[in-house]
Amino acid sequence: MGPRSDHTVIIGSRELKKAETKAKEYRRELQERSIDADVHAQENETAAENASVVVVIIPSEHATSTVKSITPLLSDDQILVNPAVGMRQDTAGFHYDAPEAGSITEGIEKVASDRVPVIVAFQNLAAGALSDLDDDLKTDVILTGTRQQRNTRSKRWPRSAQPRGAIE
Ligand SMILES: NC(=O)c1ccc[n+]([C@@H]2O[C@H](COP(=O)([O-])OP(=O)(O)OC[C@H]3O[C@@H](n4cnc5c(N)ncnc54)[C@H](OP(=O)(O)O)[C@@H]3O)[C@@H](O)[C@H]2O)c1
Repeated sequence: MGPRSDHTVIIGSRELKKAETKAKEYRRELQERSIDADVHAQENETAAENASVVVVIIPSEHATSTVKSITPLLSDDQILVNPAVGMRQDTAGFHYDAPEAGSITEGIEKVASDRVPVIVAFQNLAAGALSDLDDDLKTDVILTGTRQQRNTRSKRWPRSAQPRGAIE
């Protein structure tokens, strides 16, 4: 969300109070940068029903079960975005830890309705850089999904967040 953004951001949580605390914190941080943002809080289910783009920022091992719980609430004109990758850390560093479904996204696709596209995003951006509001990222967010999703569903993105370009 930049200074010229007109998006509404809904922070979801299993506990409304927790979401409210976070939303307040984010609003304060943005106000300190003279950004008057529409950021508010809802429980996960309400947030999922109300958002055009639902970003599943949940630890990878719980992402699929969380999507399963909100799937009945989602409608045809929404998009699910998954930033989660199955990673494991040991003394040698981070390693890819493939789940049974092949990837977290494939697991999510299995439980999500066929009507709701699942798009992968943010996996090329480090969390530290993403959350540093003073970091002018100067990079693209790579979106991946099936060819069918790209061809038939890109019209669902909010106009100001339309994807551009394509890698075959
Ligand atoms: N691309 C990137 O740079 C990047 C970087 C970091 C992380 N990620 C991905 O983003 C995801 C979230 O990472 P994070 O570090 O933000 O995780 P996190 O802080 O550990 O968890 C995010 C939220 O998930 C909810 N949650 C925790 N356990 C849950 C459960 N059992 N069931 C349902 N919800 C649960 C909690 O929200 P409530 O308690 O409020 O419900 C928590 O605040 C991960 O899957 C990770 O792979 C991507």
